[in-house]
Amino acid sequence: MRELFDLSGKVAVITGGAGFLGQKHAEVIAEYGGTPVLIDLNPAQLDAALKNLASQYAMPAASFVADITREDQVRDVYRQIMDRFERIDILINNAANNPKVDDSNQLLNTSRLENFPLELWLDDIAVGLTGSFLCCKYFGQAMATAGRGNIINISSDLGIIAPNQHLYEKEGLPDSQQSVKPVTYSVVKTGLIGLTRYLATYWAEYGVRCNALCPGGVYSGQGQEFLTRIQTLIPMARMAQPDELKGAVLFLASEASSYVTGAVIVVDGGRSVW
Ligand SMILES: NC(=O)c1ccc[n+]([C@@H]2O[C@H](COP(=O)([O-])OP(=O)(O)OC[C@H]3O[C@@H](n4cnc5c(N)ncnc54)[C@H](O)[C@@H]3O)[C@@H](O)[C@H]2O)c1
Repeated sequence: MRELFDLSGKVAVITGGAGFLGQKHAEVIAEYGGTPVLIDLNPAQLDAALKNLASQYAMPAASFVADITREDQVRDVYRQIMDRFERIDILINNAANNPKVDDSNQLLNTSRLENFPLELWLDDIAVGLTGSFLCCKYFGQAMATAGRGNIINISSDLGIIAPNQHLYEKEGLPDSQQSVKPVTYSVVKTGLIGLTRYLATYWAEYGVRCNALCPGGVYSGQGQEFLTRIQTLIPMARMAQPDELKGAVLFLASEASSYVTGAVIVVDGGRSVW
């Protein structure tokens, strides 16, 4: 059984790989012998992420600066990865605009649907959905041609339940000024589940599996008021620790999940069943 989790020799492309959770995905890939290949926008953050990996694991990680919403850049990175590693085994579509619900209380609160700017809608969809589509188009196609591969789409608990906007409420403000989780987050995260099911069937006969991972909220310095509120919505009464997604990522990335495709794996402390 232990061998089923071994990722030795496998190349794993992680979009948004310099971000908070992208680095965690990279760590578990490296820990089990795989080669994480990080794609992100910011060279300095990518360097820091690579240094962090190199300080913990002896493996040939790599990073590429690219905007995944740009087909030319995705194609270019795809070619560079193939030139260097000659294979792509795992794709983790992890990049997203991840808006923190802010409490700036502007008069015209742009997080609200009525005021939500079209440019922001287009940009959120571009990163979360178009970027994932483009990465599947190039990296997934390489996997299908090779007859093996594995795609993990990072959705969210908000891919399967609606946001509870009361979580973000500020006392004394009229509804029109209350900040909310933006509509795009639900649309992107639900859309990724559709992409998952489409690809799971589309490439099933080519040895490519595709699954969605739906994490609940992860601790990253949220304020006490928010934490107190959200824990009442979660049966386990807490958010996830940053390392607590690693088990599910490893399961989905490895042969331990060899008969799992088109699945929606929920790691949310039970929030979505309440
Ligand atoms: N943090 C959580 O609590 C949580 C919970 C559930 C799901 N998620 C999902 O997990 C994923 C990672 O979240 P995170 O908290 O690490 O966010 P993050 O903001 O730290 O990381 C996202 C990364 O994506 C990169 N990125 C954005 N646009 C890009 C583009 N056009 N091209 C390439 N890279 C781009 C950013 O530079 C950033 O490094 C997201 O899909 C998020 O929705 C997060």
